[in-house]
Amino acid sequence: MQVVHTIADLRSALAAHRSPAFVPTMGNLHSGHLALVQDARRLGDVTVASIFVNRLQFGPNEDFDTYPRTLAADCEQLKAAGCDVVFAPSEKELYPEPQGFTVQPPTELANILEGHFRPGFFSGVSTVVLKLFHCVFGSGPGTAVFGQKDYQQLMVIRRMVSQFAMPIQIVAGPTQRAADGLALSSRNGYLSEAERAEAVHLSMTLRGLAREALAAADALPQQREAMEHRAMSALAQRGWKPDYLTVRRRADLQTPTLEDTRQANRLVVLGAARLGGTRLIDNWEI
Ligand code: PAF
Repeated sequence: MQVVHTIADLRSALAAHRSPAFVPTMGNLHSGHLALVQDARRLGDVTVASIFVNRLQFGPNEDFDTYPRTLAADCEQLKAAGCDVVFAPSEKELYPEPQGFTVQPPTELANILEGHFRPGFFSGVSTVVLKLFHCVFGSGPGTAVFGQKDYQQLMVIRRMVSQFAMPIQIVAGPTQRAADGLALSSRNGYLSEAERAEAVHLSMTLRGLAREALAAADALPQQREAMEHRAMSALAQRGWKPDYLTVRRRADLQTPTLEDTRQANRLVVLGAARLGGTRLIDNWEI
């Protein structure tokens, strides 16, 4: 496995390959990321992972400074997972000057849910992903694998690739979960032992909401808000600070209409909530 730190070295490492499969990450890897690498290995003629903590997607009061940087351990895991090339640029390499050109995703997709609670987040994500795609793929074809845990992120990236006519296939990797059902996330490492035991209640509450939504059938449009409110209150009573727990239409993450609720496979529940100082997100497709 080659570890490269500059765009020039990345391009020479990939020069002989026609269809890279790429997993962008911010490092501090866990088995969720490694599962994405396994998916990528089946999808290209060379497997590339990037490790870059992207300042542009962090808000002023978020954890950019404390986000764990564990490059050596990450590289060991990537090597064992069969990754071929790791691109770990410095901030100076990827942003040699302040990034004045940025991607502005459509507000109806990027200013709701995560984007509402983390203003600018999806612009920061789209900008770095566009730049990483240029570094890895140039103008050629390839595949990029994103975790389904970041459901809205996946949708924003798919939309970007489609609207900019980029010849890149976006593949979703299923959410990996701990034995108790907690979705794997680098931020789980922030949880105390007691918080870790409690953390599974986000996914449990979302599953409960999904079951209720399914059972409500035609009454969902009238009952949805009350259901969501009950789910958020249940978490709040356990000491969480929920940002949102909501039933949405999968296609565009808008609130579902009666027609949506009548069709199987059209809905998804998504949630974000803070437990102590840690903000966790999760989702389930219904
Ligand atoms: O999902 C992540 O880890 C990040 O948002 C990504 C896609 C690597 C962009 O920085």
